Amino acid sequence: MSDKQKATTDKLPQHIAIIMDGNGRWAQARGKKRVFGHKAGMERAREMAETCGELGVQYLTLFAFSSENWNRPPEEVSFLMDLFATSLKNESKKLNKNNVQLKVIGDKDGFDKGLRKAIDKAEALTADNDGLVLNIAANYGGRWDILQAGQKLINSGQEVTEDNLSKFLATGNAPEPDLLIRTGGEKRISNFLLWQAAYSELYFSDALWPDFDSEHLKLALADYAQRQRRFGKTGEQVTG
Ligand code: FPP
Repeated sequence: MSDKQKATTDKLPQHIAIIMDGNGRWAQARGKKRVFGHKAGMERAREMAETCGELGVQYLTLFAFSSENWNRPPEEVSFLMDLFATSLKNESKKLNKNNVQLKVIGDKDGFDKGLRKAIDKAEALTADNDGLVLNIAANYGGRWDILQAGQKLINSGQEVTEDNLSKFLATGNAPEPDLLIRTGGEKRISNFLLWQAAYSELYFSDALWPDFDSEHLKLALADYAQRQRRFGKTGEQVTG
């Protein structure tokens, strides 16, 4: 095993979050419609969950559909909703078999009844699993998340502290992401986990999401393993 690979196993992120960008361009580069890229992107998402489970990553949060994605052409939105519902139905048995706990994070009120039912069913089926926690962020926005958490915190009557607010965030089931990956060449957060990513290590890949395979992930993990996380302290304080 090379030093780089060893570093990966020694310092594995507990929680990886991914902005899966580039499906449309991947399809267009092949002379196909954008939705063809989303289908390939779904396959890649499934593979990513399997790889993360095998590597021992405990939490994987995938940005599947942002609050702003409703502004896309209606046929693309409708395709994505159908793909999401079909995948939940087709994949949940396998996810369950693989001991994955599936959670959909985001404003579920925005979805139609059929999709909400498919989400509830998949979440209920996998609720007791203690392997990889797979959070699918759908109709999710970081600002929405902070607002809804703030509202719940106020309703709860608890003291307004960072810790208390964190508990009400949509990712309240997970520690903050250690590593935030964005594929597709753009370098921005796009209203993803705004609060939770305060100290995440950022990794940007030029690979379009359907091309981001396990080898690309391992490069990201090797890069992460070499970083020094300081959380605002000096390098000397961290290394002691
Ligand atoms: C970004 O690519 C991708 C999306 C907005 C949708 C992501 C959806 C999937 C990967 C499939 C569904 C997955 C799950 C887990 C439900 P883009 O269309 O913005 O690409 P572009 O930047 O090339 O246009």
